[in-house]
Amino acid sequence: MELDYHAELRGLTVRRPQLKLLQDVPFPDWVADNWETVKNFQARPDDLLIATYPKSGTTWMQEIVDLFNQNGDVKMCKRAPVYERIPFLEFFPDKGPPGVELIEKMASPRVIKTHLPIQLVPKSFWEQDCKTIVVTRNAKDNLVSYFHFHLMDKEMPEPGNWPEFFEKFLHGQVSWGSWYDHVKGWWEAQDKHRILFLFYEDMKENPRREILKVAEFMEKVLEEDVIEKIVHHSSFEVMKDNPMTNYTTFPMNILDHNISRFMRKGEVGDWKNHFTVSQNEDFDEHYARQMVHSSLKFRNVL
Ligand code: A3P
Repeated sequence: MELDYHAELRGLTVRRPQLKLLQDVPFPDWVADNWETVKNFQARPDDLLIATYPKSGTTWMQEIVDLFNQNGDVKMCKRAPVYERIPFLEFFPDKGPPGVELIEKMASPRVIKTHLPIQLVPKSFWEQDCKTIVVTRNAKDNLVSYFHFHLMDKEMPEPGNWPEFFEKFLHGQVSWGSWYDHVKGWWEAQDKHRILFLFYEDMKENPRREILKVAEFMEKVLEEDVIEKIVHHSSFEVMKDNPMTNYTTFPMNILDHNISRFMRKGEVGDWKNHFTVSQNEDFDEHYARQMVHSSLKFRNVL
């Protein structure tokens, strides 16, 4: 499927953005420069938000939720790329419609993707008491995935090399800020808002079990064969070959799959292939300090 603005995007010389602070959180400049529009976004009571730190399983959850909304109709889920079916709230491409514009054109009930930390989510979402599905991923794999994504996505700031990016991630000097603040913020918000908090590692371990949690949260009652279909069509193996979920429909001058695929590995524990022994020691020490007062526990980290 060719989108109107894709032709224009293909012709662009892509400029890597700078990081800009918004309430002390770094963002690509295209978020910070358009902040008033995001901040004033008007949510509706039946909007469902999918909120994640980048690279923790957002696209996976988007596909699961859309499969539920289409009652498992796979053909319907291929009506458009995932980034059009469930737009990205704070996305402002150089050319083409911003996420907010796509969302405003959608019929309710709408599903919306965001990477915003809880304190920056437009307040209309909470005034409307919207539901949010949060997906989190262990910090080490999240970091590895984020580094590879920076390499292939020219809409992200220059990552530097692996040791440089490693340091930046630890100190929250990356887009959408500190992983620690992000996950702890959403974790602590569970008693204030309607939040389903999930872990990538649990989804990998038992997708069916976690998908049933999503069904319950979305108040969906579906036949067993439909649930099985959803489990199958949201698996990494199927999603990586589906152009409507694997981002290969996006112009290659922006997302360069020759450098690293968007659907890269989809595994737990890939950090072991990238961390040096000394990086791992530094990481563990830093992690323990950051998370010491939190009841939020991840697997496969220490
Ligand atoms: P890797 O880079 O480790 O492979 P996001 O959607 O938040 O950007 O996250 C992307 C990460 O989730 C990538 O991780 C991608 O491969 C992985 N992913 C996407 N769909 C998945 C699926 N169905 N099952 C497991 N992992 C998936």
